[in-house]
Amino acid sequence: MIPEMDDRHLPFRLGSVLRVPSYAYPAWGLAEGNYHRESEQAYDVEFVEGSPRWMQYVSDASVRAGLGDFPQRLRAENARVVASLIQETAGLVTILDVGAGAGHSAREIHRALDGNARDRARYTLLDGARHRLDAAEALLQEEGITDYAIELANDTQIAERFEEGAFAVATSVAGVHAHAYLEPTFSQVAYVVRPGGFFVTADWHNSMWEHPRRVYQFLMGLEWDTKKQDMDAFRRAFPRYAREPGQTLGHDENANEMIRRFWTGWAEVRREAVAAHGFRKADEMYLLEGHRPVERYLQEMEQAGFQLDTIATRRLVRDQVMNGNPHQVLPDSRLLMVTVGQKP
Ligand SMILES: C[S@@+](CC[C@H](N)C(=O)[O-])C[C@H]1O[C@@H](n2cnc3c(N)ncnc32)[C@H](O)[C@@H]1O
Repeated sequence: MIPEMDDRHLPFRLGSVLRVPSYAYPAWGLAEGNYHRESEQAYDVEFVEGSPRWMQYVSDASVRAGLGDFPQRLRAENARVVASLIQETAGLVTILDVGAGAGHSAREIHRALDGNARDRARYTLLDGARHRLDAAEALLQEEGITDYAIELANDTQIAERFEEGAFAVATSVAGVHAHAYLEPTFSQVAYVVRPGGFFVTADWHNSMWEHPRRVYQFLMGLEWDTKKQDMDAFRRAFPRYAREPGQTLGHDENANEMIRRFWTGWAEVRREAVAAHGFRKADEMYLLEGHRPVERYLQEMEQAGFQLDTIATRRLVRDQVMNGNPHQVLPDSRLLMVTVGQKP
């Protein structure tokens, strides 16, 4: 049985527990190795009809939390790395943007390129949300980018949509974490990246959703009208809230603190939008999600066949495009990280 609770009156929606990283399933009362299909469906309900406006809400929440515009910061850092790789590549460079959303991450790459490389870049924007891709087309055209392709698909369909080795660079800004199981997406990306090509992820990393106790303590620090009933329901649904999580791989308390702040910012932005009757289901976001420490990405990259320490990744560090691989964006936490894998 999948534990669940009524989350409609919380300051934000929790969403399905199936969305947490699969290795955290036992802590949430789920058997690890199960629910591959169901966890994907639990994500689909969030983004398939997702609105382009949601992107703006996420930035607003980050700014409201006093963090600055983290989505934009991730895009900018990703673009510096991807642009550097493109500039070092001869001829036409095919780029797959996974979870491209409303086109902001691709536009950022374009802006980071010098004139010559701009002419050589060919973008394919893949996303599962059609309204966001519509917005992306408008954005790219406004930017004067004419040579692009749009692919409406889930990122677990990459291998059936593209030829083996079709791309020189695959990249994703906050676009591949929406899975309990990352393996299918990472291995499919590896399939469509050509030998010598790259996979660059820029993502949010933290361990907040790995254990119900972390979520419980976070919620207990907030106030809302139905808190007493809701927390009773939480305790019943997720009894392991009472146990200490212990030390988990890549745990970074500063990153967890920052993501908690982000969510309090989101609660405010959401509340105001609801009060103004401007908030729609398509703008919704759910707390329990697939964020995980960057160490898990390093493992997944290697398992998918990417190498993390190569002449090209060392060059990025030597030229100070990255401060390491993974590259830590914020000075005081490992919340935002850019990771580069190269296919041998
Ligand atoms: C946080 S947004 C980032 C968008 C864009 N990269 C940017 O920087 O603005 C993540 C995007 O990934 C898409 N997405 C999430 N899970 C996906 C999946 N499994 N398959 C395809 N797209 C997905 C969402 O629809 C959303 O547009």
